[in-house]
Amino acid sequence: MGQMSKTRIKYICSNCGYESLRWLGKCPECDSWNTFTEEIIETNKRKPTAYKGILNIKKIDEIEGVEKNRITTGIGELDRVLGGGFIPGSVILLGGDPGIGKSTLAMQAASRINDKVLYVTGEESTAQIKSRAERLKIKSDNFFVLSETDLNIIIASINSLAPSLVIIDSIQTMYRSDLDNSPGTITQIRECTSQLMEMAKRNQVSVLIVGHVTKEGFIAGPKVLEHMVDTVIQFEGEAHHSFRILRAEKNRFGSTNEIGIFEMHEEGLTEVKNPSELFLSEREKDISGSAITASIEGTRPILLEVQALVTPSSFGNPQRVATGFDYRRLSILLAVLEKRSGLRLSASNVFLNMAGGVKITEPAVDLAVCCSIASSLTDKVVAGKTVLIGEVGLGGEVRSVGHIEKRIQEAQKLGFEKIIIPQNNMKSLKINSSMKILGVESLTEAINNAIK
Ligand SMILES: Nc1ncnc2c1ncn2[C@@H]1O[C@H](COP(=O)(O)OP(=O)(O)OP(=O)(O)O)[C@@H](O)[C@H]1O
Ligand SMILES: [Mg+2]
Ligand SMILES: [Zn+2]
Repeated sequence: MGQMSKTRIKYICSNCGYESLRWLGKCPECDSWNTFTEEIIETNKRKPTAYKGILNIKKIDEIEGVEKNRITTGIGELDRVLGGGFIPGSVILLGGDPGIGKSTLAMQAASRINDKVLYVTGEESTAQIKSRAERLKIKSDNFFVLSETDLNIIIASINSLAPSLVIIDSIQTMYRSDLDNSPGTITQIRECTSQLMEMAKRNQVSVLIVGHVTKEGFIAGPKVLEHMVDTVIQFEGEAHHSFRILRAEKNRFGSTNEIGIFEMHEEGLTEVKNPSELFLSEREKDISGSAITASIEGTRPILLEVQALVTPSSFGNPQRVATGFDYRRLSILLAVLEKRSGLRLSASNVFLNMAGGVKITEPAVDLAVCCSIASSLTDKVVAGKTVLIGEVGLGGEVRSVGHIEKRIQEAQKLGFEKIIIPQNNMKSLKINSSMKILGVESLTEAINNAIK
């Protein structure tokens, strides 16, 4: 074909994929230190594709949609995060910390599909897979296991088995024998992924790629991997909590707002269908610094406890620590509390925590954050059975939020008696609730009503 191939050495940032001809201590693209690794690059000079007289142009009406072909696992929490199941021909990257339960989730999903699934493991022996399968009580006629790391052999196996879902556990262990780089290098990860993508589109098979996450929280290997695949889902959780959260970070075939909640047991992951109950179960009642809010995650309302601890600072430089909440947002809310509600916080340490290890980005939790801080500062509790909802503006005003009915219903379902919401949400409220619903216009008004 007249291809010229030559190899040379390049240095690639293992964080973002930036390439350089010489070694660099600091990456000019993503500012990481000591991330450059030496890699052999093959450059093929290819001729441009010649026009062969067949045009592959289609009318949009003639193109078959993908929605109706989705492969569902019946695991609602997973299917929902995927946007309704696996799309044939799509590639999904599943990331997560070591030991979080990626292989468990992948195997449980695989065992629930009504069609052939090939589970390719490069990390464990087939015997290890079998013992996990026994522990998870997996029984399936359609579950095939291959212990292999050579991608060319894997692709040949896929072609002969013709499964509808392939699981690659993990991408860091796979390699292409036509490349000189060792497994786990950026070039191998990228090239293996691109070959899997090609195969997925050609064979109309879904591929779930498991990827390790570095301590910085990125999927190991260049960021470009996340750009290549159709969907990126992250499996998160805390070592000392049994529940796990599945979150879509990118989805070409669905929303990225949905989260899936699971609990890890010896027999594997179980779905958590009532997350509010779980999140509130460990709550210490009638303690200062605690406030309950209703957050919308995707399409579901979830009740959460916001915890604040305000302590005098013995140094001139008070500490502010936020877990599960944006640090800058906390700084803004502290300034609003100080300026608009007259709370003296500038000489205090403020620690804020979204209980249960969840991460919340929506502003509707502002009011609960502010009230938990006010409660801890004054050491007075937020009246029991109260839920707080509202965005707090810089003027100390409480702004309306979306999905107010859903939030109210969830609070009522869990037995709360009073709910404080933005006054502007009261107007459009079409709900019959046995709870006391109080509309507030300002942060100060909310604090005075919630904390007695
Ligand atoms: N016998 C057991 N009883 C209870 N839980 C177990 C048992 N064995 C494993 N687990 C749980 O499963 C988790 C490991 O799951 P899994 O192997 O699926 O994780 P992983 O994300 O694939 O890990 P790795 O990064 O090592 O591939 C453990 O952290 C533990 O929580
Ligand atoms: Mg694993
Ligand atoms: Zn970089």
